[in-house]
Amino acid sequence: MSILVTGGAGYIGSHTVVELLNINEDVIIIDNFSNSKPDVLECIRKITGKDFKFYEIDYLDKKSLEKVFEENENIESVINFAGYKAVGESVQKPIEYYMNNISGALVLLDTMKKYGVKKFVFSSSATVYGEPERIPLTEDCKTGGTTNPYGTTKLYIEQILKDLYKSDNTWDIAILRYFNPVGAHESGLIGEEPQGIPNNLMPYVARVAAGTLKELSVFGNDYNTSDGTGVRDYIHVVDLAKGHIKALEKLNREKQGLFIYNLGTGVGYSVLDMVKAFEKSTGRKVPYKIAPRRDGDIATCYSNPKKAKEELGWEAVKNLEDMCKDSWKFIENKRNLTQEPEKIQEHNVERGT
Ligand code: UFG
Repeated sequence: MSILVTGGAGYIGSHTVVELLNINEDVIIIDNFSNSKPDVLECIRKITGKDFKFYEIDYLDKKSLEKVFEENENIESVINFAGYKAVGESVQKPIEYYMNNISGALVLLDTMKKYGVKKFVFSSSATVYGEPERIPLTEDCKTGGTTNPYGTTKLYIEQILKDLYKSDNTWDIAILRYFNPVGAHESGLIGEEPQGIPNNLMPYVARVAAGTLKELSVFGNDYNTSDGTGVRDYIHVVDLAKGHIKALEKLNREKQGLFIYNLGTGVGYSVLDMVKAFEKSTGRKVPYKIAPRRDGDIATCYSNPKKAKEELGWEAVKNLEDMCKDSWKFIENKRNLTQEPEKIQEHNVERGT
């Protein structure tokens, strides 16, 4: 039986594919490389020593998607990582975000229905909780009040999945609400590669440490937190990836149901905690300045991960040092690999070619 992974070349998708291959699952990836690069696929093969089928298609393209299901009758479940994920960009491009994330999910679910595939794991986000009802967040906390189209797409897709399950309870659905994924694979081969200037804290911190960006702006130091800066639940991407394996196992065990889990560590760290931890683990300086609060940010957000522990037998095991060290290893690796092409590019620009 095969597992179809949409967006399998992306940040969380690629780490999950590695974990699936490590336990000898048969994996089929689809990706259109809208926010990832083809060389990630080679890195996955290198890390695992295993192979998988790959289709370069857009999941909105129903015809191509149907072809994947037709050619692979053994697809048993789907993990959906495809989708746009930049909060700021979603405010500028709401149509693109609603179209890609929501229409994409609908095309995928409709195709699954057509081919009788009814096991679905969905990448949701803690952002669906909006302004947290209480901290730590449990899965039964109220959702809604999302402050940007990206978050709203996650909220709406969760609702679509609930309606779908209500209409046909032979579906098995796991909704996984991620907190703040950071870090990279310990090999340093795959990790997060944001295009342009990163919006998220850790990729930004890593680039400041590498000297690619001058200094970090800490968005606000007057929140009601231990040191005034925002507090989040940072989770190592490999722990997060393993959560998907456990969720799939649960769907295979239970046969039917719709389950929602927080995937977080249950511990909150402030922006300055993260800066200090990064400096300590890497020996690099991270210069920063205090800047005004960022629109839409909340003071504190961390999970209660108890439900996932009790029902999935999953919990995050990697610590802050692992998160920082692995992020750094990936950045250093990338820099070593790209030094040559960067120089060539500069040279070409100078010559006007
Ligand atoms: N921060 C800074 N400077 C920066 C970037 C971030 O001080 O340059 C601060 C933010 O103000 C916040 C913390 O670092 O306090 C974390 O910010 P991120 O942008 O890394 O993450 P968010 O918590 O804002 O958002 C993340 C994901 C979303 C997801 C959300 C769920 O990016 O996709 O978690 O809680 F929806």
